[in-house]
Amino acid sequence: MARIVRPTAYGTPDVLGIFELRIPRPAAGEVVVGVRAAGVNPIDWKLYSGAFHTVDDEHKESAGVAAEALPALGLECAGVVTAVGVGVTGVELGDEVIAHPVTAAYADYVVAPVTALVRKPATLSWEAAGTLMLSGTTAAHTVHAVGLGRGDTVLVHGGSGGTGLMAVQLATARGATVLATGAERNHHLLRELGAVPLAYGPGLLDRVRAAAPDGVTAAVDCAGTDEALDVSVALVADRTRIASIVGTDRRAAVGVKTLGYGPGQDAGTEVRLAARADLAARAGAGELRVLVHGSYPLYEAARAHKVGIAGHAPGKLVLVP
Ligand SMILES: NC(=O)c1ccc[n+]([C@@H]2O[C@H](COP(=O)([O-])OP(=O)(O)OC[C@H]3O[C@@H](n4cnc5c(N)ncnc54)[C@H](OP(=O)(O)O)[C@@H]3O)[C@@H](O)[C@H]2O)c1
Repeated sequence: MARIVRPTAYGTPDVLGIFELRIPRPAAGEVVVGVRAAGVNPIDWKLYSGAFHTVDDEHKESAGVAAEALPALGLECAGVVTAVGVGVTGVELGDEVIAHPVTAAYADYVVAPVTALVRKPATLSWEAAGTLMLSGTTAAHTVHAVGLGRGDTVLVHGGSGGTGLMAVQLATARGATVLATGAERNHHLLRELGAVPLAYGPGLLDRVRAAAPDGVTAAVDCAGTDEALDVSVALVADRTRIASIVGTDRRAAVGVKTLGYGPGQDAGTEVRLAARADLAARAGAGELRVLVHGSYPLYEAARAHKVGIAGHAPGKLVLVP
């Protein structure tokens, strides 16, 4: 038998339950991965929080948000291949892999299409490998979308978060000068990664202007606040060089790039999938740091989500079955 964490209703993390299922079997083109570490991401709690729908209880069923439609959780993990389906080549039992994108990785075992696999570098810890890809591929999409290169000065809002820390490092690696916002207690981290740290909150525009007197050529918003949007458009003349991964409808109205899976957004599927091998190689070589803030056993998934929802964990949260 195998354990899996799933929501039992829409609501707060207290709705998460742990269930026993048969160990899954792979179909053609799939493998089963014994999960050693599963990344925890904000999308996980948003999926069962009701954030993605505004339907009252009476209409939930017809809108497809009834309890039976509750999502499985866990879009990324790292682990060991324990079963290989028909037609799979190049993957053997016992291989250590990163799997992303997958569904239902909050579990002892996950079924993954072979196309989701990237070899796990031996030098990378299970925790780092399990939580590298969702933030890493999103960050890779942001720096690609704004076309960062040498000579650019980029402002990363939410630079101290899971995605922001990746964006800061990828931007620095492209030769850009990086300014990044975060709470004061995380400024040492941003500095270590090569960014100029700035506090978010009132006066941000003036602080950025003082830190970058020659101007800011691009912005990446991982915070999603009105302040982040307003400061970005005040500083960056070319709005196609502002990319946002979270926020309100105002973003489209002011003409910045909205990256993600919502209506009208750029999912960047090709860019994100193509980035995985490079992210693994860089992380394996120690050029890209995966900062893991907290590891939790499966039965403490709700605790991990509460820490994540509080919104100030410097780095990634991970479940270790
Ligand atoms: N569109 C996509 O494809 C995509 C992909 C991944 C994530 N996302 C979304 O992007 C958001 C960030 O994800 P994440 O994993 O990086 O989250 P996270 O790890 O929780 O990071 C949150 C960041 O926001 C900062 N922050 C908190 N309050 C702030 C405020 N009032 N003003 C400015 N910054 C503030 C935090 O700074 P301190 O901790 O220093 O206070 C931290 O840097 C989430 O909403 C997530 O769902 C979207």
